[in-house]
Amino acid sequence: MAITGASGTLYAQRLLDNLGSEHEVHVVLSQYAQSVISEEIPEGLKLKPGVQTHGSRSMNVPFASGSNPFDAMVVVPCSMGTLGRIAHGLSSDVMLRAADVMLKERRKLILVPRETPLNLVHIKNMELLLLAGAILMPANPQFYTGAKTALDLVDTVVSRILDHLGIANDLAPRWQDERE
Ligand SMILES: Cc1cc2nc3c(=O)[nH]c(=O)nc-3n(C[C@H](O)[C@H](O)[C@H](O)COP(=O)(O)O)c2cc1C
Repeated sequence: MAITGASGTLYAQRLLDNLGSEHEVHVVLSQYAQSVISEEIPEGLKLKPGVQTHGSRSMNVPFASGSNPFDAMVVVPCSMGTLGRIAHGLSSDVMLRAADVMLKERRKLILVPRETPLNLVHIKNMELLLLAGAILMPANPQFYTGAKTALDLVDTVVSRILDHLGIANDLAPRWQDERE
């Protein structure tokens, strides 16, 4: 899991909260993630025991190489800067390298961008990423599920990320044809 300096740290926190201990979880923060985290979650990110954190500089981590079969990578929230750097294959730090590995190995790379409005550079970078096999899940909450709090709205996004990771969850109500 990679966390960048886009707004939306709560999405990352709720995803971390909902990854069970049966999963091997590694977390990398971009340089700017820390300053946005301190704006949005002043008490800091809460990591469950067993979650491994890594600095962004060292490539001495298992997920910097395709030889380790990691299932999936999620960049949440994903800044337009990181999105552009992944789209162009920069691989200049461990987060970007890990994303590049996921694409080249045809493994699941989920990006959760947060920006508005979008410019043509963003759209073209997104197009490149889709062509390369990434899954783009913009941090757009659903408003039809009866959310009562901001956290409920956050969870509508996190639930869909978990769905795409193949992790069963009932974080947000599902749409039904008929209501009781
Ligand atoms: C409070 C705050 C909120 C930000 N929100 C966003 C955002 O939602 N989307 C975005 O693309 N950049 C946002 N930025 C700008 C990024 O932090 C900045 O472009 C940074 O260079 C991204 O670097 P990174 O991708 O390595 O984390 C925000 C910056 C700050 C200080």
